[in-house]
Amino acid sequence: MAKQKIRVTDLARMKAERTPIAMLTAYDFPFARIFDRAGVDILLVGDSLGMVVQGADSTLPVTMADVLYHVKLVARARERALLVGDLPFMSYQVSVEQALRNAGRLLKEGGAEAVKLEGGVTMADTIRRLVDVDIPVMGHIGLTPQSIHRMGGHRVQGRQSGRGPGCRERLLEDALAVEQAGAFAVVLEGIPAELASEITSRLAIPTIGIGAGADCDGQVLVMHDMLGLTDGFRPRFAKAYANLWRDATEAATAYLRDVRGRAFPAEEHTFHVKGV
Ligand code: KIV
Repeated sequence: MAKQKIRVTDLARMKAERTPIAMLTAYDFPFARIFDRAGVDILLVGDSLGMVVQGADSTLPVTMADVLYHVKLVARARERALLVGDLPFMSYQVSVEQALRNAGRLLKEGGAEAVKLEGGVTMADTIRRLVDVDIPVMGHIGLTPQSIHRMGGHRVQGRQSGRGPGCRERLLEDALAVEQAGAFAVVLEGIPAELASEITSRLAIPTIGIGAGADCDGQVLVMHDMLGLTDGFRPRFAKAYANLWRDATEAATAYLRDVRGRAFPAEEHTFHVKGV
């Protein structure tokens, strides 16, 4: 595994060389260190933290302070991966000035190297201004969780033809607008594989898919889905490579058994007065 630091500028080359880009979310030091040392290319501190870390039922309540806190934890662990911080709901939609200020904080105070924001055509001016002041931007189109109320839930987008938000032709326009505005990559979430494939072939910048089929230039998963650290529900597009929920439950049960049976602490876990 190459140990060379991944930078924004490496991603276009990876696309050109057809090297798949592996991205995972991370929210704290230990998991960020594990993923970074395993060779993950991009660590995303996603606003998904609202759901998988804070237990909310959407990403909408997540604040700048929340994201900034978690970006700082991940920044301490990151050695090789590119670190991307997510701009939470209503931290960039109000005005370009607000977006500049908050994106700047993720780089300046948090240690992120790029920001991600949701939206296509409507966010193009904002992306352009961020890129103009050298804040690299990753776009995010398709099933954009911050639009949960417009979409009527977490629903696959791009199945219907049309130019309305979430429709097929509109998503193509969104992808092109994000690229033209200067984004260095774009997340395609929850869209048909055929549409993701078409977008991927029409864009020069890499596409990172989640629930968007196998033809994207890279893939991203929420770490809790990838590790099986969820209580039951896992989206259809996510693959669990471990079952940490089960393992942690078994560990906690064994600990309870030992404490209640006075089997823990044992002699090797015990300090004594010196010389006694
Ligand atoms: O917030 C997040 O974790 C994301 C990824 C799912 C792309 O936006």
